[in-house]
Amino acid sequence: MKRPGPLPEAGTKTMSTEATNDRAVLTIGGKTYELPVKIGTEGEMAIDITSLRSTTGAITLDDGYGNTGSCESAITFIDGDQGILRYRGYPIEQLAEQSTFVESSYLLIFGELPTGPQLAEFRRLLCEHEFIHEDMRHQFEGFPPNAHPMAILSAMINALGAYEPDLLEPEDDSRFIDAAARLMSKIRTVAAASYKKSLGQPMIYPRYDLQYVPNFLHMMFSKPNHPHQPLPEVVSALRQILILHADHEQNCSTSTVRMVGSSQANLYASVASGVCALWGPLHGGANQAVIDMLDQIIASGETPEAFIARVKDRNSKIRLMGFGHRVYKNYDPRAKILKVACDRMLNKLGIHDRMLDVAMKLEEVALKDSYFIDRKLYPNVDFYSGIIMKAIGIPTDMFPVMFAIGRLPGWIAHWREAHLQPSQKIHRPRQLYIGARMRDYQPIDRRR
Ligand code: SDX
Repeated sequence: MKRPGPLPEAGTKTMSTEATNDRAVLTIGGKTYELPVKIGTEGEMAIDITSLRSTTGAITLDDGYGNTGSCESAITFIDGDQGILRYRGYPIEQLAEQSTFVESSYLLIFGELPTGPQLAEFRRLLCEHEFIHEDMRHQFEGFPPNAHPMAILSAMINALGAYEPDLLEPEDDSRFIDAAARLMSKIRTVAAASYKKSLGQPMIYPRYDLQYVPNFLHMMFSKPNHPHQPLPEVVSALRQILILHADHEQNCSTSTVRMVGSSQANLYASVASGVCALWGPLHGGANQAVIDMLDQIIASGETPEAFIARVKDRNSKIRLMGFGHRVYKNYDPRAKILKVACDRMLNKLGIHDRMLDVAMKLEEVALKDSYFIDRKLYPNVDFYSGIIMKAIGIPTDMFPVMFAIGRLPGWIAHWREAHLQPSQKIHRPRQLYIGARMRDYQPIDRRR
């Protein structure tokens, strides 16, 4: 089948920042310096400090990069104060309601919603590439039965690159859709196989006739003697979870993928590093931590009010997992959508899950409490997603894996955007040295 019309040209309609007459004025050591100010598409302001060190000798310091832009990007826009999230300009609410995960992934990676033929071609490639090399099946045997699926996923994504060496070079963009499709398709197969391994069940092969989400559920829950038929409500809820996780601008794991990719490391190695960054409980591991938290509250019989009181006690070191966000200082729009989807799916499935009751009560109590109000702590994407995935039958240690499957198109989009930048440089932040001054080596008999 001839590939339909050319992909949207890389860089077509590239948005660019608008130079302004604004200047940031710095006075250091009695000298005054001016730095240019750039304005983004939505009016955000950035002080361009690319010339700072060469002109002033000073660097900036920003622990955790909360105030530092690492790049210009046209992929995702977030307004944390307004609770706005858009992929390539399209509101997340519209995509979650009307799009599919494959279509939204194409949008993120190539910048435009696909035409019919483009979507059909992308879908065909996803089907063509859904198998992993048979030899990779043996690699699963090298992991202990209780291996965390994120350890398996990061290792197997790197291993995928070994079986597709032609894709290890930063691809010329005309072949990029193949690389993107291979990775997006096979991540499902690897994830489902790791789940089957943990159960001691045989790996289930993908089916060419199934679309992205039903095919994943088939590989997860079918058995050789008993095919699984997912309910439409479950497919829809998982579709929304994947779309809502697909990108989130320069979050920890995406910044990791961009940093590793900046050394010209291949797409597989860069994505495998993103999986590792996502694993942390403050990032992609939070959905698993939310379920553990709700489990403990229910098991202990502690009231939500009593738990919130412990969270507010700084000495407790307890956090309300699934609450708070580095960027959203308002309700995470993804959490709003997932809260509705969670309620709808549980009702359709006739499931009454105590966890949802407890989660909604925790939210009700927290949102009225000055501790959370003053710190602008609201539910984030992880607060309700775990309850949906648990109801689908996905085990909690697979939750970060589901986040990775959802986030993969975002990682791919950012890796491609960075590689298409003519000025792409290896990331190399500076530091402020606070260690010992110069001192001479001491022989061991003179050390005390
Ligand atoms: C994701 O970056 C992204 O975009 C990430 C993500 C994506 O899509 O990629 O959105 C996905 O990672 C969502 C976040 C998932 N993590 C959690 O739900 C873990 C719980 N949340 C936090 O640990 C925390 O809110 C962070 C890490 C998410 C954000 O932390 P910040 O913005 O750095 O805030 P902070 O740690 O500086 O805290 C500010 C204050 C502190 O209190 P004080 O020192 O002022 O007294 O708020 C408190 C914190 O103790 N605080 C919390 C809290 N989060 C912050 N107190 C209780 N419970 C919480 N969850």
